[in-house]
Amino acid sequence: MENAKAVHQAAEILRKGGIVAFPTETVYGLGANTFNPIAVARVFEVKKRPHFDPLIVHVASQGDLDKLVSEIPSDAKKVVEQFWPGPLTIVLLKKEEVPEIVTSGLPTVAVRMPRHPMALSLIERAGFPIVGPSANLFGYLSPTTAEHVRDQLGNQIDFILDGGPCEVGVESTIVSFKEKRPRLLRPGGVPLEEIESVIGTVEVSTAEVDRPAAPGMLPRHYAPRTPIVLEWDEKDFNSKKNKKIGLLAFQEPISSIKFHHVEILSKKGDMREAAANLFAAIRHLDTLNLDLILAEAIPEIGLGRAIMDRLRRASAKELPIDEAYRSD
Ligand code: TXA
Ligand code: MG
Repeated sequence: MENAKAVHQAAEILRKGGIVAFPTETVYGLGANTFNPIAVARVFEVKKRPHFDPLIVHVASQGDLDKLVSEIPSDAKKVVEQFWPGPLTIVLLKKEEVPEIVTSGLPTVAVRMPRHPMALSLIERAGFPIVGPSANLFGYLSPTTAEHVRDQLGNQIDFILDGGPCEVGVESTIVSFKEKRPRLLRPGGVPLEEIESVIGTVEVSTAEVDRPAAPGMLPRHYAPRTPIVLEWDEKDFNSKKNKKIGLLAFQEPISSIKFHHVEILSKKGDMREAAANLFAAIRHLDTLNLDLILAEAIPEIGLGRAIMDRLRRASAKELPIDEAYRSD
């Protein structure tokens, strides 16, 4: 289907209260009308997402932001000017009109303006901001192609808008302006260094210290079914033991273990390319019936911070949800 026609059809479905997967530059989102609580409830249901995990609202212009939030602090204005449209989400005090189901009862709302042209025209055509959690089952890897969405949610949603593979590949960076000092809630597509070059020091939350304000900050998230190990030593693994081990390598693998399969994130060691390939590479490894996936650590600078965050969470041990949420 021609793109414009598909966008038109998807917008029509959203207006009627349906739910639609749509492309963004980060990952695919599962969209619904922000102001239709029943449609939003279906998004939670389909994703099997707990209701305490609030959604990001997607807008098509800076002007749309005024309809959602009561006040925009000057630092928030600065980052919006600099990074929108793009992979940055800001958290601000919400207006009353934003339904509770969207924000899980929080006094704040997370908002971003994506830069994927199909996402922007979908929001414009629909005529309202669109909630958009990543279009995957809760806790699993985010989809970076329409195919990924189809595989997991295809028969439960009303439409999938195909905008090709996502250019960034990791979710948006989330910064909260709820308190006096801006705070990073989730590293993502806009590197922290770039944000700090515009507004100065940003406080960094760690799941260990803070009660997770964003369940993307749950210790275990973005996880495949095959166990992933991030901290490992070659001598602990012996391929002779008949175990099928896969490797997620940044560049050329440095290990001498004989792997069943190796996924290389970026041959030339380019962080952007590595981020764009990350989820698809793990998904592929997850289809191979491996016993284990070993992942190589990468430098935590620029996008490396978001990549390592996802790898840590993908490799974290499963905890019962109430356990994961306990702050002490
Ligand atoms: O790149 C992205 O942000 C993608 C694309 C589709 O836009 N969306 C995405 O949504 O990653 P989701 O739902 O998978 O992750 C949203 C995160 C969650 O961890 C949620 O807890 C957090 O944003 N969040 C939403 N509202 C919040 C709020 N008011 N305060 C703190 N965190 C919030
Ligand atoms: Mg998600």
